[in-house]
This record gives sequence, structure tokens and C-alpha cells, in this order.
Amino acid sequence: METWLVTGGAGFIGANFVLLARQKQWANIVNLDKLTYAGNLQTLQSLRHDRGHHFIQGDIGNRELVKYILEQFAVTKIINFAAESHVDRSILAPDSFIQTNIVGTFHLLEVAKNYWQHLPPPAQANFRFLHVSTDEVYGSLSLTDPPFTETTPYAPNSPYSASKAAADHLVRSFHHTYQLPTLTTNCSNNYGPYQFPEKLIPLTILNAYENKPIPVYGKGENIRDWLYVTDHCTALYQVLTQGTPGETYNIGGESEKPNLEVVTTICSILDEIAPQATPRQSLITFVKDRPGHDLRYAINCNKIKTQLGWQPQENFTSGIRKTIEWYLHNLDWVNSVRSGAYRQWLQQNYGDRGASEPRPTQKHL
Ligand code: NAD
Ligand code: DAU
Repeated sequence: METWLVTGGAGFIGANFVLLARQKQWANIVNLDKLTYAGNLQTLQSLRHDRGHHFIQGDIGNRELVKYILEQFAVTKIINFAAESHVDRSILAPDSFIQTNIVGTFHLLEVAKNYWQHLPPPAQANFRFLHVSTDEVYGSLSLTDPPFTETTPYAPNSPYSASKAAADHLVRSFHHTYQLPTLTTNCSNNYGPYQFPEKLIPLTILNAYENKPIPVYGKGENIRDWLYVTDHCTALYQVLTQGTPGETYNIGGESEKPNLEVVTTICSILDEIAPQATPRQSLITFVKDRPGHDLRYAINCNKIKTQLGWQPQENFTSGIRKTIEWYLHNLDWVNSVRSGAYRQWLQQNYGDRGASEPRPTQKHL
């Protein structure tokens, strides 16, 4: 069996990928993760006796360490999930986004290139560097624009998306200049088990369940295209095993929803599963908008569907119910990730947003 290096495999999508890869016996996994606030070993508990999973705490920017891992484990493929991923954090403190998402990816590419160049020809042909990126690099759509395709020009608007765009360009350049067999994926918003409760969906589920205010930025009219995380993971597997080096692939759920609809849907499902006297929609609180808030993301994923035969298995109706049930059955996991640093973040991000009138005026950039 091959051994793949997964970076950021203790975070939300990376861990879901690692768990699926081991369950489906896609490969043995070396999992390199720095364990920032977003990384959690609790997520990987079920693999603690699995000899095909090796966890190593470390930074993708540590060239010595990455070189050692590639050689020691005879790695055949790299899947790079490691990143700072939260837009609001990038607005308040962008430094670590530049460091990990750009500089870290550059170091990883350098070490991967040197390793790959010294492999024998058959191993060189089989090697892949898959860079996991986002639809946010394309910027913001108006309500009538067609969805992003692989040829939509890059127009990132936040420090997060700018750092991801920079990394995508580096990956592209390593293929064009050195022929490193790279693949890049640009995916829409994910949701599902093990997502850190700073992101909209898990934050809403937990606040609604615990009868706390549900903060909605602006008027809740911003639109995201939601994809269940396991469907993202199977798309990555298709790209990794069937994709053409040098190509980029868009991945999306074809499931555009305004934020307010997402939040009210979660409230209704929770009212049904765990009824209470006051409907949970009364917890919705409109707060000051995110600066530079992108209005709409939508992904055209015809390329991966037609060229690689990928199809998502979940729609939003089935996926959101599964996700809500997962959180209610895994409150131990939730408590394990809500450290003091998490409470500090809530204060920092929401402390001075304040609750605005139910229908504030909002400017879209
Ligand atoms: P996450 O924040 O949940 O996890 C990121 C992981 O990377 C954490 O475990 C963290 O400890 C680790 N990490 C951070 N810096 C590191 C470093 N320097 N070295 C090693 N590990 C480091 O993120 P996620 O939501 O799982 O996203 C994973 C990837 O997918 C990111 O690259 C993100 O840009 C991309 N993506 C996310 C979404 C989404 O909706 N969440 C959608 C499209 C693309
Ligand atoms: O599109 C892919 C991207 O999706 C990924 O690249 C990012 O890593 C991931 O975090 C996500 O970015 P978003 O900014 O779209 O996700 P978030 O869950 O932070 O916000 C979703 C929408 O909900 C967005 O329009 C902002 C809004 N929102 C968010 C929070 C945290 C609120 O209204 N209230 C909130 O408290």
C-alpha cells in the first residue's frame, strides 16, 4: 500500500479525509499537523491503534522535518490541507495566514520538489502534490453572475483568500517551471462532523441548542455554496488518483443558500429534534457585518463531474440533518475543543459587534 503525507490532518477537512482514507484503505497516512487552536487529536481517537496512521506534530514550514518524513516513509503523494482557514481571524490578525498559507506552502513545495527530483522514474511518474484550496480566491459574485469556473480570474478580497491565492500561484509555478506533478482544487464551503465551532454552521447549531444568541452578519443575505465534507474528500480522492498533473479542479455542492436560510433551517430542525417552548429563530441576532464581506460564492463543478466521474452523495437537506445529529451526539468532542483560547476568540470577534436592529442597512463590497 502507498503512504501519503497529509498535512493539516487534525483539522476539520484533513481529519475527515484521514478517517475516510483509513476506512477505505486508500493508503497508509503520515499526518503532519502543527496542532494550532484548530487542530484536535481527539478527532483522530478512533485511529489510535491503527498502524497505518502515524501522527507527527510539526510545521509544514520545517524543511528538515518534512524531508525526513518524505524519505523515512517513502511518501508517494502529498495532500496539503494545512492552513489558517478562518476569514474573521485573517481580518483581525493576518500574520499567521501569510506565514503558513504562503511561506509554509512554499517550503513544502521546495522540499517536495527536491524529493521528487531524486526519485527513480516510475516513482516520479506516480508522485502527486495535491494542494487543497478554496473558491474564495475567485472573489465575490453578484446575484446574477454565473458560478465560478476553473478559468475565472483570481480576485481575492480578504487576507485569508489572498494568502490562499498566493499559494495557488506558487503551486502553479512549480508545475510550470519544474514539472512537479501538482494538482489544485478550489472548493466551496464545507460542513459536517468535526468542524471547529467558529464557523457559521457549527456555531449556529451549538448556540441554538444552548439557547445563546445566533450572530448573523449584516442582513444574512450573503450566499454560500454548501458541500458535505465527505463529498469533498471523495472529490479529492478522484483528483489525486485520476486528475491530470498541472490541472485545477473546482469542487462544489451546487447548493447555494443565503446565510439566513441556513440559520433558520438549523433552528427548525433543532426545534423538531429537541423541542422547547420558545422557537429557536428568536435567538437570531443581526450583528455588525464582516468588513469586505463577499456577497456570493457559487461553483461550477462540471469539469470534475464529467472528466473524473465525481458526484456528491449528500444534498443540503440530508447533510445538514446528519451534521446537527452528529453535534448533539458528540458534545464531549465539542467540550474538548472549547478551550480558554476559544472563549477568548468569541470575545474578540463578537465583543464589539453588538446586536443591531433586526434589519440594518448593509453595503456589499
Ligand atoms: P482547519 O482550520 O479546520 O484545519 C487546519 C489544520 O491545519 C489544523 O489542524 C491546524 O492545526 C493545521 N495547521 C495550521 N498551520 C499549520 C502549519 N503551519 N503546519 C502544519 N499544520 C498546520 O481548516 P479546514 O476547514 O479543515 O480547511 C482545510 C483546508 O481546506 C485549508 O487549506 C482551507 O483553506 C481549505 N478549504 C476549506 C474549506 C472550508 O469550508 N472549511 C473550503 C474550501 C477549502
Ligand atoms: O468558501 C470556502 C471557504 O468557506 C473556506 O475557504 C474557508 O476556510 C471557510 O472558513 C469558509 O469561509 P466563510 O467565510 O464563507 O465561512 P464562515 O463559516 O466563516 O461564514 C459563512 C457565512 O456566514 C459568511 O457569509 C459569514 C457568515 N457568518 C459567519 C459567522 C462565523 C455569520 O453571519 N455569522 C457568524 O458568526
